[in-house]
Amino acid sequence: LGRVVEYHDAIDSTNIRAKRLAEDGALSGTLVVSDCQKAGRGRRGREWVSPSGTNVFMSLILRPDILPGSASMLTLVAALAVHEGILRETGLETSIKWPNDIVAGGKKLCGILTEMSAELEGIHYVVVGIGINVNMEGFPEEVSSVATSLYLELGEKVRRSSLIASILEAFEGFYEEFISQGDLSGLISVYNSCMINAGREVRILDHAGDYTGKAIGINEKGELLVEMQSGEVKHVISGEVSVRGL
Ligand code: BTN
Repeated sequence: LGRVVEYHDAIDSTNIRAKRLAEDGALSGTLVVSDCQKAGRGRRGREWVSPSGTNVFMSLILRPDILPGSASMLTLVAALAVHEGILRETGLETSIKWPNDIVAGGKKLCGILTEMSAELEGIHYVVVGIGINVNMEGFPEEVSSVATSLYLELGEKVRRSSLIASILEAFEGFYEEFISQGDLSGLISVYNSCMINAGREVRILDHAGDYTGKAIGINEKGELLVEMQSGEVKHVISGEVSVRGL
């Protein structure tokens, strides 16, 4: 992964660029990195604030044979890779908030936006977009209670290129495991061991309503298993819900 890297000083969004490259036939493993983004995008159509000089904004093109369903599973693979890459590079022990936020001290450090080609078009690719707050020294008041950076957690600056290399290296190992199994079965225990929700009460908001239960862990498809008070275990599918710790 990352043997082909396209670097930009500024771009609208690395995800948009990566999707265009993928449609033009870019190889699996191609990486787009930008110092800043003019139209960085988060999940649920939200904006992803993307200033220059401090953070990591990157998108990886992957072409796994196992579609469909792989986009949501790859999001969890990416979260594992970011968690492991940060640990190797800085020694900081972060947590994963299911499905794919990386948090430290209860605040968000990294977000992941995975997008997939329309399968009917016969072009199969997944773009995994990763945004990490690396050397930001502060956040606007509105978000400072929910966002953090590696600098704020560690008290020292982190070299972005080394961090990217460590994440890609970790990604390769997890991705191979994922491809060889065809699902996340080989990664369940490592994922659950760094998932902040495990064993905790969570509140789930989805089309069916608003309910609480105890998060047990993920299954091989990356669904979150939540035990309800009745003893019934619900399979929560990512992308459809908002999970809040209680
Ligand atoms: C989230 O809402 O948590 C996901 C944020 C994803 C942001 C990254 S930054 C690199 C890539 N390009 C984008 O426009 N978004 C993703």
